[in-house]
Amino acid sequence: MSSGGQREQWATRIGFIFAAVGSAVGLGNIWRFPFQVGQEGGAAFLVIYLLFIVLIGFPAMLIEFVVGRHTERNPVGALQEIGAGAWRYVGWIFIATGFVILSYYSVVAGWTIRYTLLGLQDDYIADAAEAEAQFVTLASGLDAIFLHAIFMVAVIAIVAYGIERGIELAVKVMIPAIIVIMLGLAVYVATLEGASEAYSYYLSPEWGVIAAEWQSILPAAAGQAFFTLSLGMGVMITYASYLGEDRNLAEDSAIIIGFDTAIAFVTGLIVFPVLFTAGVAPGDPGAGAIFVSLAAAFGDLTFGWLIGAIFFATVAIAALSSAISLMEVVVSYAIDELDLDRVTATLAIGGAIFLLGIPSAYDLVLLDLFDLFADQILLVLGGLLLAILVSWSLSTLAIEELERGIGDLGSLGTAWIWAVRIPVVLVLVVALVLGILDYYEFLSGDFAAWLEE
Ligand code: PFF
Repeated sequence: MSSGGQREQWATRIGFIFAAVGSAVGLGNIWRFPFQVGQEGGAAFLVIYLLFIVLIGFPAMLIEFVVGRHTERNPVGALQEIGAGAWRYVGWIFIATGFVILSYYSVVAGWTIRYTLLGLQDDYIADAAEAEAQFVTLASGLDAIFLHAIFMVAVIAIVAYGIERGIELAVKVMIPAIIVIMLGLAVYVATLEGASEAYSYYLSPEWGVIAAEWQSILPAAAGQAFFTLSLGMGVMITYASYLGEDRNLAEDSAIIIGFDTAIAFVTGLIVFPVLFTAGVAPGDPGAGAIFVSLAAAFGDLTFGWLIGAIFFATVAIAALSSAISLMEVVVSYAIDELDLDRVTATLAIGGAIFLLGIPSAYDLVLLDLFDLFADQILLVLGGLLLAILVSWSLSTLAIEELERGIGDLGSLGTAWIWAVRIPVVLVLVVALVLGILDYYEFLSGDFAAWLEE
C-alpha cells in the first residue's frame, strides 16, 4: 500500500457527478443502445430497459459507491480491505476488465474519429452494401491502429494530469458540450420527413413483443443497464474513492443515472428519424449500426455530411470521457499499490493497453474475442461477486456507509440490501451463464472458422 502523500480528491460535487456521467455516457449509449432497441423490438425493449435501470442499476451503483468511499482505495486495495479469504482477490477482476475493455474500446473510438473525418470530406456512401464495404476497410488495419494510438494519447494526456486538473477539468467541458450538441441534433432531425414514423416505432410499445421474446429481451436489457452505467468495471469504486466529504450518494446516483438515461433516450430520438428518413430498417445491421446504416443514411441526407461529422465527433468525445474512467481504475491501482507516480503509471499502462488493442484493430474477429470475454464474462463476474460479498456479508457496513451524508435510512436501507441480495444477484447469475454459453458458441463458431483461414 502506498505510504506516500495525500490521496487526490475531487474539487467539487459537480466535478464528481460529471466525471461519473462522463464514464456512464459513452459508446454504450450512442452505439449499443439504439441497435439493441432496433434488434430487440423497439419501444417494448425500452420499457424493460428503464425498469432494469431503476431496479438493478441503481442499487448496484450504490454498492460500488459505498465500497469506494468507505475504503478510499483502488478496487484491488478496496477488496483486500473489506474481503476475507478468496474474496480479497476479487478486485483483480476489475483491473483485468478495465484493461481489456479499454484496449478495444479505444479501437472503436478510433473509428468514431475516422467517421468524423469522413463527414468533413463528404465521404459517406448512401448505398448500404458499399457503406458496409467501406466500414470493413476502415475498421481494421494500419488506419485503425493509427487512430487507436491517437485516441490512447488523448486518454493518457488527460489521466496524467490527475483527478482535479485532468479528469475533473476535462469532464466539465465535455459533458455540457455533449448535452448541448445532442439536444441540438435531436431538434434538427425532428424536421426530417421520417421523424413521425420513427417516433411511433421508438415510443409506442407493442406489448406482444415482450410476451413473444422475453428470453432475449430480458438478458439484453439487463446487460445493457449494467454496461451503460459503467458497473462491474471498478469505475464507480475508483471514482467514489476520491470523494472527501460525506455526500448523499443516493442522490448523486439518481442524478448520474438520470443523465445517462436521458442521453441514451435522446440518442434514439436522433438515430431513428435519420434511419427512417433514409429508408433504412432499424433492426437489421446489428453491431455495425452506427458505422454502416447510420453513416449510409447520412450519405443520403442533404447536409448529412455535416450532421454526421457533428454526430461522430460527439460520440468520440463521449467515448473519451468513458475511456479516462477505465484508465483511472488501472492507474489508481498502480499509484496506491505499486507506489508509482501518476505520470509514470499512466504512460506505462497506456502503452500496454495500446499494445493489447493492436489485435482488435487488426481484425474484427479478434475485437469480438476480447469484447465478448470482457463484456459478457469478466464484467458480469466482477459485478456479481461484489454484489454477493457486500450484500450478504457486509450489509451493516454498507448501510452505515450509505447513511453517512444521508442520515438514518430506516427500512429503506434494508430494502436496498435485499434488492441486491436477490434481484441483482439473480440477474447477474443468469447473465453470466448466458454470457459463457454465448462465448463458447463464438469460440467454436466464428473464431474457430477464423483460425482455420
Ligand atoms: N458506460 C460506458 C458506456 O456506456 O460506454 C461503459 C464503458 C465502456 C466505460 C468502456 C468505460 C469504457 F472505457
